[in-house]
Amino acid sequence: MKKLSKFSSLAYLVLAAITISSGLFAGVAYAGIFVWADLPGAAPDVEAVTFEGTETAVNKISADITRQIAGRSGFILSSICPASFELTAAGECNLVTRYQFYDSVQQRGVGGTQTALPKHRSGFTPQQIDLGRYLFFDPLLSKDGTVSCASCHHPELGFSDGRGRSIGIGKEPTARGAPSLWNMTFLTSFFWDARANSLEQQAQGPLFDEKEMANSPEKLLASIRSNAYYPAMFAQAFPDIEKPTLEQLYTALAAFQSSLISLNSRYDQYAHGFHQALTADEIAGLNVFRSFVARCAECHQPPLFTNNQVAVIGTPEPDGLPFDSGAEKTFNSTKLRGGFKVPSLRNIGKTAPYMHSGRFEQLGDAVAFYNKGRGHALPENEQLQLHWHIWEPNLTDEEIARLVDFLGTLTDESLLPEVPQVLPSGLMPVQSLPLSEITKEQKDKANATDTVAAITTNNAIKNQGN
Ligand code: HEC
Ligand code: HEC
Repeated sequence: MKKLSKFSSLAYLVLAAITISSGLFAGVAYAGIFVWADLPGAAPDVEAVTFEGTETAVNKISADITRQIAGRSGFILSSICPASFELTAAGECNLVTRYQFYDSVQQRGVGGTQTALPKHRSGFTPQQIDLGRYLFFDPLLSKDGTVSCASCHHPELGFSDGRGRSIGIGKEPTARGAPSLWNMTFLTSFFWDARANSLEQQAQGPLFDEKEMANSPEKLLASIRSNAYYPAMFAQAFPDIEKPTLEQLYTALAAFQSSLISLNSRYDQYAHGFHQALTADEIAGLNVFRSFVARCAECHQPPLFTNNQVAVIGTPEPDGLPFDSGAEKTFNSTKLRGGFKVPSLRNIGKTAPYMHSGRFEQLGDAVAFYNKGRGHALPENEQLQLHWHIWEPNLTDEEIARLVDFLGTLTDESLLPEVPQVLPSGLMPVQSLPLSEITKEQKDKANATDTVAAITTNNAIKNQGN
């Protein structure tokens, strides 16, 4: 075991970063508190995890640092709800938004600005949300410790990954692209083909998928239970239960994802009555969006910008990829062949490329798709039952440009959670990755073969050196 005197300067930098970040975030109800008060004490000699693959150098350094600074105190989960939530007498975090004061969608008709939100998940405690935050960023959840949920749902990329199709452990693209995770709390089904009915069920997809995180339930449970810190953290989040269970892990991930709320964009300010929040061009775009000519709001219903339904719209695959039958299989219904869940358009400016497998690079291309004629992109041998709101609106270039302007007003990342600086596994969380820092070269390379882990590891080194 290393003594404090052997602390590398790197460790001090990380300590400084933690101190600075806890200062910075003191006013925000989010920060998970990492206690290192009894630093000089005997830190447990933890071999955090043994992986079948090789750990990167950075991850080893990080594990060292965790061992040295964590001491006996471990991690204390936040007892405060994230911003926009208030703590109830029962100790649960309750979402508060202005939309709760409006009537239901039905009473206003689609496209109205002051319409109510659909029902949402609730009942999570601050500790469950905070535990979920650590788990979400922890590559410990994957088979070889290289991929976390955040690898494909990166907070700086709108909780998506900037790719048409994601890449996980398998280094080979998954079938579809990673959707944004903002406002998951309002959704009733998950995945592009709506095959999961809850966030808990959804999480088991990537965790145990060979191409994504490739773990097994047994190994996942064992690595959580044998970790030096997680059992105590699970006990804070789920006080009634003795040992961590997988159900608790799924619940905590659901709790964290349910706290990702994006409802304070410039569009929302406009909707709540502050008309100066949008420019004349953006308002013109909103009016096209909700017109009966363009019909966007029929499916992308405000305020969520989805109606939580599956629709067959006939989007093309990227060149060379086979036709994706989408929700046909989920519902065992040929009517839904080629059907996909209507995605929310919130933060759409951050989540290019677009559609289920990223066929369109630019937002303008995704919007122009709707103007090219019903079924124009279908393979010859496919006769899909296209949704009746998909037609030929004959929008002008000007109208398409205004639609794109309007979609840009749906960006709101004010409640972005804090990425944990240190994880219970000692592995590197996916680090801050400002869009501007991803060079085209890196992106192309990543798109071709590499994993996000490689980019983030690179970046992690850079961040630590700052
Ligand atoms: C390898 C990349 C990858 C990893 C790792 C990953 N995801 Fe995903 N995620 C995706 C892709 C791709 C989809 C869409 C798949 C589909 O629809 O068939 C998706 C879909 C989702 C959805 C559904 C969103 C919606 O609108 O329907 C949620 C929620 C989600 N992921 C959460 C998670 C969580 C939690 C983890 C960690 C346990 C995780 N993901 C790990 C790539 C990933
Ligand atoms: C019939 C329902 C329907 C209508 C009408 C509709 N959409 Fe969509 N929209 C969808 C579905 C379903 C998808 C996902 C399709 C896919 O991935 O293949 C989608 C995807 C999108 C995307 C890409 C989202 C992402 O995360 O990749 C954008 C942008 C979009 N729509 C904008 C619009 C605009 C603008 C209009 C009006 C001109 C419109 N939509 C009309 C159902 C609809």
